[in-house]
Amino acid sequence: MLKTKKLVMIPGPTPVVRSIQDQMGRETVAFGDPDFVADFAEVIGDLKTLWKCGGEAFVVAGSGTLAMEMAVANVAKRGENVLVCSNGFFGDRFIDLCERKGLNVDVLKARWGESITPENVAAQLARKDYQLVTVTHVETSTGVAAPVAEIAGAVHETSSALLIVDGVAATGGVEETIDPMGIDILLTCSQKAFGVAPGLAMLWAGQRAMEKRATLGRIPESYVDFDKWLPIMHNPAKYWGTPPINLIWALKESLRIMKEEGLEERYARHARQGALVDAAMEAIGFTVAARKPYRAPTLSVYLYPEGSGIDDVQFRTVLADEGVQSAGCLGDFQGKGFRMGHMGNIDRHTLVSAVGAVERACFKCGYRIEFGKALGVLQEGLARE
Ligand SMILES: Cc1ncc(COP(=O)(O)O)c(C=O)c1O
Repeated sequence: MLKTKKLVMIPGPTPVVRSIQDQMGRETVAFGDPDFVADFAEVIGDLKTLWKCGGEAFVVAGSGTLAMEMAVANVAKRGENVLVCSNGFFGDRFIDLCERKGLNVDVLKARWGESITPENVAAQLARKDYQLVTVTHVETSTGVAAPVAEIAGAVHETSSALLIVDGVAATGGVEETIDPMGIDILLTCSQKAFGVAPGLAMLWAGQRAMEKRATLGRIPESYVDFDKWLPIMHNPAKYWGTPPINLIWALKESLRIMKEEGLEERYARHARQGALVDAAMEAIGFTVAARKPYRAPTLSVYLYPEGSGIDDVQFRTVLADEGVQSAGCLGDFQGKGFRMGHMGNIDRHTLVSAVGAVERACFKCGYRIEFGKALGVLQEGLARE
């Protein structure tokens, strides 16, 4: 049988379009090559402009977790108090990371599928003095988008704490701005809504974050130290650690695509298409795990219909055979559903193919649905866009 093309519909890495692949396939040059230096400088400049950051932007080789570590390492020191706002698995990741750094960690935990609210944050900040607050914009284990702008407002109105936002599953697909929103550090990585292969950790630091870094002197960490990288981000002809040249070219192409689409339209597209895929899945009995109004535009957790008899492992295996790679659920949702990304540079063909494969997988797993029911909702929505 002819092998079906695999669509990477897990919540990252996301499908990489041809023009970005081409950049990764280019012949690698020296990191001091003047053309590459100019490309790298342009990438840093674009990141600052597009995310409205009057501070600094950093791009280093690493995954999203490295970016989380880099964020905390540069704005907090042993003995300080941090409030971790966690909506699930990746929110919790900050706990261990901050404890290892010697911070005193308090955690606000939302029920799975729900979000910490600005009111929760304000109430906790009124109880105790914190130097740092962390929040995960889109929680990849639940498909919940936290109200980041409002949480930032609450943090700055009630305290002098700095706010770190984990934008790994959001940045480039959901609106985030550094200065206007009052985000002190935003971190993300290349393989999600940027649609680049894994390997780049990216971070924006506003003025207040840079001022805090300056008070810390020599920090224990080396690779993630802002002070080591800042000269390179200001002038990429300088050296500290070898830059991932081809991935930086790929990021440049990703930013070009974003500018061509327009960030506003890109965010609107994610919102429209995320809601459409959710509606399509609901039409065949799946439940979106994230409670409204916290549904993320970038990815969703779809819980299997009650009484459908669908076996989780079998379903995801069949779905993969039908050409769609999805992810299993984590924590409270483990075994009860699957996770699907709908972010980045995916087009209508991809969305239609993905939902079509879900319909076939349902049928093959013995859950009898009316063929075309989910697809019909999606198709009509796309046609009316
Ligand atoms: C919200 C969030 N934060 C952090 C991470 C960690 O990123 P990485 O796997 O690239 O280290 C992930 C990974 O999926 C994530 O979804």
